[in-house]
Amino acid sequence: MYALPCDGATRGDRAAPAASQTYLVLRLALGYGELQAGEGTGLRALLGVVRLVKLRQGEPWQPADVYGRSLQGLSLNLVVRSVSESLPFYERALMLRRLYSDEDFAALAGHGLRLMLHADHTYSRMPSGERAAQERLRGAGVEIRLLGLDPERAAAGARAAGGEVVLPPTVFTHGWRECHLADPDGYVFVVGEPTPSPAPAVGDVRLRPLRAEDADNVLPVLDDWWGGRHMTPRLPRLFFEYFSDSSFAAEDRETSKLLGFLCGVFATGDTERAYIHFVGVDPSARGSGIGRLLYEAFFAAARMAGRTSVTAITAPVNTGSIAFHRAMGFQVVPGDTVEMGIPSHSGHEGPGTAHVVFRREL
Ligand SMILES: CC(C)(COP(=O)(O)OP(=O)(O)OC[C@H]1O[C@@H](n2cnc3c(N)ncnc32)[C@H](O)[C@@H]1OP(=O)(O)O)[C@@H](O)C(=O)NCCC(=O)NCCS
Repeated sequence: MYALPCDGATRGDRAAPAASQTYLVLRLALGYGELQAGEGTGLRALLGVVRLVKLRQGEPWQPADVYGRSLQGLSLNLVVRSVSESLPFYERALMLRRLYSDEDFAALAGHGLRLMLHADHTYSRMPSGERAAQERLRGAGVEIRLLGLDPERAAAGARAAGGEVVLPPTVFTHGWRECHLADPDGYVFVVGEPTPSPAPAVGDVRLRPLRAEDADNVLPVLDDWWGGRHMTPRLPRLFFEYFSDSSFAAEDRETSKLLGFLCGVFATGDTERAYIHFVGVDPSARGSGIGRLLYEAFFAAARMAGRTSVTAITAPVNTGSIAFHRAMGFQVVPGDTVEMGIPSHSGHEGPGTAHVVFRREL
């Protein structure tokens, strides 16, 4: 049978043409003999009586099992009242590509999503078809979220396609500018784009994720920013390149000049812990809250990642850093020695070193 698995198709009759398939269904339902679809037998009139599985008469797109096996990961099956009435919404509002459609079924793809529309009659023998038929608005309580689409364009497409704009494009604090759109059956899609992350918080300074190319601006000045201490061996480029979820750059909103950076990591073993490896602010911009801004951005990202504590270390000689960490709510973790009057951990970064270890709960 040339249908998707979810239509209640049986196996082993893939070579059967669609008309015979309709015949089979009717024969099952009514005990009819040689009835064929489209023979002027009042087939469509029988719809009210017969739980018909297919209306399609021509050759279908591809065997159900072939398409079924091509699907990977998450895909969506939506049971709709009319495939042809739903299609414009999916093509114009959600900007999905139509792979195939007939009056029973449509397959669409795009934005990493595989979506299938099944007309009610094809699902009449399936449990979810019976449930859907009872709902005035289908899928109540489910939001299907698609990130990476322009919400203005999507909302305009929905209006043009007869969908409902449940919520026009709106900026939310969860990092999306999004709109909420309902298809003709009531299925709600939330589509949007990420907002600049995170929102600027200190005057002319803007934060953004740290990028690999920031290393070219930071590494040449790093030792200067640390008062002449030789710090570059402790900050390989990988910290700029591979931890963008947990690392930030602070830049001048007008000129984009880099004013500060933070390299942090979320532990992979103990998934409650986070660590700030480096933070630095251009000496000319210190004391204006950029360090705090960077730390608070990290705290927020760490909380969102489920982290409950942050650790950082500094050299006992770095009194500015010690004051900064205390101002940021860190506690000094008791160590095995005292260096320059502060509890420290000997050998923490290798033989002959001692470091102050800070910890803060989130
Ligand atoms: C430490 C550093 C990142 C702080 O950046 P900053 O932008 O000047 O810090 P902020 O202006 O946001 O200050 C945040 C808080 O820390 C306090 N603070 C910062 N530096 C301080 C210092 N040297 N002495 C005392 N307090 C200090 C501020 O008073 C402020 O407290 P408040 O908010 O309660 O008023 C910056 O001085 C720096 O880059 N130092 C060199 C690199 C370094 O040592 N990094 C840390 C180790 S990895």
